[in-house]
Amino acid sequence: MPRELITLQAGQCGNQIGNEFWKLLCTEHGISPDGILEDFATQGGHDRKDVFFYQADDEHYIPRALLLDLEPRVINNIRTSAYANLYNPENIYTSNDGGGAGNNWGHGYEAGQRVYEEIIEMIDREADGSDSLEGFMMLHSIAGGTGSGLGSFLLEKLADRYPKKLVQTYSVFPNNEDTSDVIVQPYNSILALKRLTLFVDSVVVLDNAALARIAADRLHLQQPTFAQTNQLVSTVMSASTATLRYPGYMNNDLVSLVASLIPTPRCHFLTTSYTPFASESVENAKSVRKTTVLDVMRRLLQPKNKMVSTKESKKSCYISVLNIIQGEADPTDVHKSLLRIRERRLAQFIPWGPASIQVALSKKSPYVQTSHRVSGLMLANHTSIATLFERTCSQYDRLRKRNAFLDQYKKMPMFSSVCVTIWLSRRRRRGDWMCLNGGSRSTCGIACGLPRFCVPPPPLAGSRS
Ligand code: GTP
Repeated sequence: MPRELITLQAGQCGNQIGNEFWKLLCTEHGISPDGILEDFATQGGHDRKDVFFYQADDEHYIPRALLLDLEPRVINNIRTSAYANLYNPENIYTSNDGGGAGNNWGHGYEAGQRVYEEIIEMIDREADGSDSLEGFMMLHSIAGGTGSGLGSFLLEKLADRYPKKLVQTYSVFPNNEDTSDVIVQPYNSILALKRLTLFVDSVVVLDNAALARIAADRLHLQQPTFAQTNQLVSTVMSASTATLRYPGYMNNDLVSLVASLIPTPRCHFLTTSYTPFASESVENAKSVRKTTVLDVMRRLLQPKNKMVSTKESKKSCYISVLNIIQGEADPTDVHKSLLRIRERRLAQFIPWGPASIQVALSKKSPYVQTSHRVSGLMLANHTSIATLFERTCSQYDRLRKRNAFLDQYKKMPMFSSVCVTIWLSRRRRRGDWMCLNGGSRSTCGIACGLPRFCVPPPPLAGSRS
C-alpha cells in the first residue's frame, strides 16, 4: 500500500523549489513534462510513483501538490513553462488581488484565515484521493510573508485537522542579517519558528547562506541564482525521499525515517549534507573523480558540505545520523567505512544515545545516468542547530530593541493591541523587561502570538507601551 505524501508549496521560494523538485522527480520516474510516462519507462515498475503522483482519467501522472501564493508571478511562470500541464489546475491558489504578503508574516497569516476554506477544500480533496495518506510536506521560506505567514497558518490547521498525519517541512532560513534581502526577516522568522517548533514533526533546515557557500565552492558560482541553489535543494529532496520511492527492506516510509532521527519530539530540526553534486542534476557541478562509500561518508561529515550555517564547537555533537547511500554500494564496504569512521572518531555523539551512523542503501533511478559510482545524503540531528536559533533570536532582539519596522505589523488586527507593546513590567533586579507570561525577550514580544496577550495591559508603573 503506498504511503502517500501531499506537498504544499507556499510563496515564491516554496513554489520555485517545488518546481525544481517535480522536474527532478519526473526525470527520475521517466515521466514527461506533460505527465505522460515515457516509452522507455513503461517496462519499469521498480519504483513507487504513487507516493508523490496519482493518475488522472487519461493516465497522466499528476503531482500530489498544492501550489499556493498570494502573488501570481511565480505560479504564472510555472504555468507558461514546459511543466504547465503537469499540475492539477484545481490545486493552484493565487490571490485575486495579487499583491503578495509584502514580506509581512502578519499579512500572510491573515490571508490564510481569509482563504482557509478554499485551501482546506483542496487539501481534503487530495487527502480523500489517497489510499493511505502518510502526511504532508511543506516547502517554504521563513523569511518572507507568504511562505512564512500563510505557511504558519496552514501548519496550525494541519495539526488540528490531521493530528495523526506526519508533517515535514523543508524550510529555507534566511541569509545572515548583514546580507539579508528582507529587512524584517528576523520578525517573520521568529514567528514562523514558533509554528515549526509546535506543529511540525520534522523540519529539514536549509539556509541560503550555506546554499550560496556550497554553490561557490562546488559549482564555482560566486553569485548563484535561485534556480541554481534550488537545484541543490531539489537534489537533497530527491535523495531524502529515495527510500520511499524506490523501496528496499528498510526506511520505506516517512515515519521510519523520522523515527530513526528524532529521539524526542522537540528535537526535530534536521541538517543535511549531500555529495557529490553531479553535473547531471546540477549545472556546473565540479566533477568528483573517485567515489567510494568511505569517501562519500567521510565527506558527508565535513561541515563545509552542510546545507545550513551553524557554528560547531568542541562540545557540539550528533544526536542521530542517517546516511542514504545511492549507487554501487556493497554492504561490506558500508561496514568497513563505519568501522573506519569510528576508529578515526570523525563523528562525536551524545553520551545518552547510541553512537552509531545509520545507513540506508537506496536504489537509483535507472533513467538518470550518473558519472560517479556512489552518492550520499546525510540527514542529521546535530546539537549545533542551536546556534542557528540563537542567531535568529539575537537578530530579532536587535530589531525589536529599536521597535524597528513595526508599523506594518501593528496594522494587522492580530498585533494591533498588546502583542507589539508587550513588555509590561520592569524586572528590577535584572533591569530587564519582562512579559505578562514571564517569557524572555526572545520568546515573547510579537513572537508570542497567544490570544491571552491581546488584552489591554493594566497600567503598570514603568510599563512601556
Ligand atoms: P511575499 O513575497 O511576502 O509574498 O512572501 P514569499 O513567501 O513569497 O517570500 P519569499 O518566498 O520570496 O521569501 C523571501 C526569502 O526567501 C528571502 O530570504 C529570499 O532570499 C528567499 N527566497 C526567495 N525565493 C527563493 C528561492 O527560489 N530559493 C531560495 N533558496 N530562496 C528563496
